[in-house]
Amino acid sequence: MSDYHEPVEELSEEARNFSRALKSLKEEIEAVDWYHQRVVTSKDKDLAAIMAHNRDEEIEHACMSLEWLRRNMPVWDEELRTWLFKEGDLMGGHGHDHDDHDDATVVNQTHSALARSANSPAAMTASGF
Ligand SMILES: [Fe+2]
Repeated sequence: MSDYHEPVEELSEEARNFSRALKSLKEEIEAVDWYHQRVVTSKDKDLAAIMAHNRDEEIEHACMSLEWLRRNMPVWDEELRTWLFKEGDLMGGHGHDHDDHDDATVVNQTHSALARSANSPAAMTASGF
């Protein structure tokens, strides 16, 4: 069984850790959604309270995974600093060139990944490279 979309033996330990963290974040957010649906549909007040507690713990877990990504995976820190804890129009700062990240490491990692999977859909659509 593999959840990877590329041959696992071609993924570095760092890439595997990124995948672990991203999957965990996805699972925690999914759990928040599921618990909240149970909260709002339960007719039993005590059961709803337990589900609400569990939902809120999943939010905590999601934030912990996100913080790991911020500290370890390129671009998260930059984007989180740009988008979180701001007031006003959420879309106000959007519309910039999506390829304007100046972190050469990220670009090099992307080039390497595309070179390894030259026939992947990502490589075919990445005509800018
Ligand atoms: Fe959790």
